[in-house]
Amino acid sequence: MTRANPAAEAVRATAQTVDSGTPPQPAIPPLDVDAIRKDFPILSRLLPGGRPLIYLDSGNSSQKPVQVINVMREHLEEHYANVGRALHTLGSESTDAYESARDKVAEFIGAPARDEVVFTKNASEAINLVARSFRGRSEPAAGFGDERFRLGPGDEVLISEMEHHSNIVPWQMLCERTGATLRWFGVTDEGRLDIGDLDELLNERTKIVSLTLQSNVLGTVNSISPIARRARQTGSLLMLDASQGVPHMPVDVVETGADFVAFTGHKMLGPTGIGVLWGRAELLDAMPPFLGGGEMIETVSMEGSTYAPVPAKFEAGTPPIVEAIGLGAAVDYLSAVGMPSIKQYEQELTRYALDALQDVPTLRIIGPSNPISRGGTLSFVLGDIHPHDVGQILDDEFGIAVRVGHHCARPLHRRFGIPATTRASLYLYNTRDEIDALVRGLHHVRTIFG
Ligand SMILES: Cc1ncc(COP(=O)(O)O)c(C=O)c1O
Repeated sequence: MTRANPAAEAVRATAQTVDSGTPPQPAIPPLDVDAIRKDFPILSRLLPGGRPLIYLDSGNSSQKPVQVINVMREHLEEHYANVGRALHTLGSESTDAYESARDKVAEFIGAPARDEVVFTKNASEAINLVARSFRGRSEPAAGFGDERFRLGPGDEVLISEMEHHSNIVPWQMLCERTGATLRWFGVTDEGRLDIGDLDELLNERTKIVSLTLQSNVLGTVNSISPIARRARQTGSLLMLDASQGVPHMPVDVVETGADFVAFTGHKMLGPTGIGVLWGRAELLDAMPPFLGGGEMIETVSMEGSTYAPVPAKFEAGTPPIVEAIGLGAAVDYLSAVGMPSIKQYEQELTRYALDALQDVPTLRIIGPSNPISRGGTLSFVLGDIHPHDVGQILDDEFGIAVRVGHHCARPLHRRFGIPATTRASLYLYNTRDEIDALVRGLHHVRTIFG
């Protein structure tokens, strides 16, 4: 008789159920959160009054590990020069480092080609880049006449009510400029995307659908495949705002079925000032340049210019060099920890937090209250106590950093009939102890407000 091998047992899928019939999957290694926390110098800082920092605002901007800080410092101290144009040693070292960051990002998101990764300033710029690529029917094509990027009255752009303003305003501006109509999916009471009207909302008139992968307020992770399938049927383009997705879960851009994916470096352990637009090569080729300037041209004469191939066509001027290199280091860090492990850890922590928050009387979660298909973004109202008061007391008395307000999602707050929420957003370095501290802090806030 063979005895069970504990090591082999440990390699069984955590998600596998006994009778599911699915083949065993390798277990996802757990995170060593204590070790991870040591990589983030700021997490050991004491706030005024000697309170330890409890940082629950990573949905806003994440903290940075020493590995990212060091790579950026080392580049500035030893290799820094402008990229692409300087032929000296530092110029080529800097260019190599910048382009190697592009390789890292491309591999991280499963991009079929490195040139499909365009560096932008942030996610907002990446979305604007795509929105600005569309021209009205009466505008001159200027050499970029692809019909997929032309629209006018009678055409439609589809978004949702749960979008960040960055994925609303550029499309409103496009519709104002061209006469196209903006339409949107609603949100259910539970905080899920309402795709009941999918076939009606996403139709042959829809030129582009742009949706968030994970809501920055509700935490909801949207199921993209039915929308991607329908977009293929109707010939519509599909863009994903993955600003809250790429930092927290494995994302393979091809598997999403999207044509464009935007995300932002500072929410995924990288610096500010760097974002990414991934797009299918054939579409990026067909799009006009976004900004004009140095490095995006092939030739320039006083009579006119021709443009460089992608990605240079979209990277006018001196790019955020050190920031891109920092993002490359962040991608290295996330890959070494393992995105499946990060996702699994955050799911466990979210489950714990949702349970723990239930103990706080009058607290109402805005978003799914079960941990299925949702990330660790926990927005809530606490009776009729103003979120600004909640945030201030948590900060002043408990050292807890949360975000309060509408989180750049006013239409979503209006949908739920509230002006603002308090939002705790989790990341790989947060712990159950920090959730417990949050719950204690919220009980205290209630006591203060009677
Ligand atoms: C879902 C979502 N989209 C877009 C953005 C905009 O990111 P950035 O400000 O880096 O452009 C954010 C930032 O909060 C976000 O949460």
